[in-house]
Amino acid sequence: MKGIILSGGTATRLFPLTATTSKQLLPVYDRQMIFYPLNTLIKAGIKDILLIVAPEHSGQYLNLLGSILKKHGINLYFEVQKTPRGLADAFIMGESFIDDDSVTMILGDNIFENDLSKEIKQFKSGAHVFAKKVSDPERFGVVKFDKNKKAIKITEKPKKWISDYAVTGLYIYDNRVIGAAKKVKPSGRGEIEITALHNFYLKLGELTVSTFSGEWLDAGTFDSLLEAGNIVKKKKIYKNFDPIIEKAIIEFNVELKELAKKRLL
Ligand code: G1P
Repeated sequence: MKGIILSGGTATRLFPLTATTSKQLLPVYDRQMIFYPLNTLIKAGIKDILLIVAPEHSGQYLNLLGSILKKHGINLYFEVQKTPRGLADAFIMGESFIDDDSVTMILGDNIFENDLSKEIKQFKSGAHVFAKKVSDPERFGVVKFDKNKKAIKITEKPKKWISDYAVTGLYIYDNRVIGAAKKVKPSGRGEIEITALHNFYLKLGELTVSTFSGEWLDAGTFDSLLEAGNIVKKKKIYKNFDPIIEKAIIEFNVELKELAKKRLL
C-alpha cells in the first residue's frame, strides 16, 4: 500500500496567513497540520508516502519533513503541482510512484480523531471511503445508503438533498484507480472530481463505505482552523500519534535547539 497526501492549492480563504506558507503547514495546536494526515497513513503501516505540494511551498515542506522520518523507515517523496486540476489528478501525477500497488490518499487538511488504520490494513481490492454525518452536506461529495447501509449513490455537492453523509478526505483504491482517473472528464467547476472515481467503483459493485463517530476536521477558514486547534487540545488528539512521528518531532526539536544555540554563540 502506497500513500499520497494532497497538499497543494493556494487556500485563498486563509489569506493573509497563506500568503507566506501553505495552509497545511499552519499550526493546529502544537504541530503543523501536515502531521495529522501523515499520522493517519503512518499509523496504518504505510512506509512510502508521496506529498503533492504547490511550487511556492516545496522548500518549506522539504525543510520540515525532508530528513526527519527517513531514519524511522518512512520514505517521503515530493511532487510539485503547478496548477490544481482536481483531486483525481493525484493518481495521474502519482502513477509511477504508485506503480503496481494499491493506494491510500488523504487530503492534507483532514484531521481524523478516530484511528482508521484497520480499514487501510485490511483493504484487498476495489475502493473504500469514509463517510461522516454533517449538517451541511451540500458542501461535499455525498453518499446515499440503502436500508442495509450499502452505498447506492454518490453525488458531488448535490443541490437537492440526498443524504447527510459526506465523503471525507480519506480514500483507499486498488491499482485500477490510475486508469479510471485518466478517463475522468472535468466537471462544471473544471476539476477532475474524486466523486467520478467513486462512481466508477460503485458501478462495478466494488465500492465500500464505512462511517465513524469521532471528529472530522478540516481547517479551511479562520474559525475552523481555530476550532481544530481547540478540539485537538481538548480531546488530546495529539496524544494518539504514532510513536514514529512523536520521536521524529522530538528529535527535530533537539536539532533545532542545537542550531539556535550555535547561532547564539
Ligand atoms: C472535496 C471532494 C468532496 C469531499 C471533500 C472532503 O471537496 O470533491 O467529494 O467530500 O473534498 O473535504 P472540495 O474541498 O474540493 O470542495
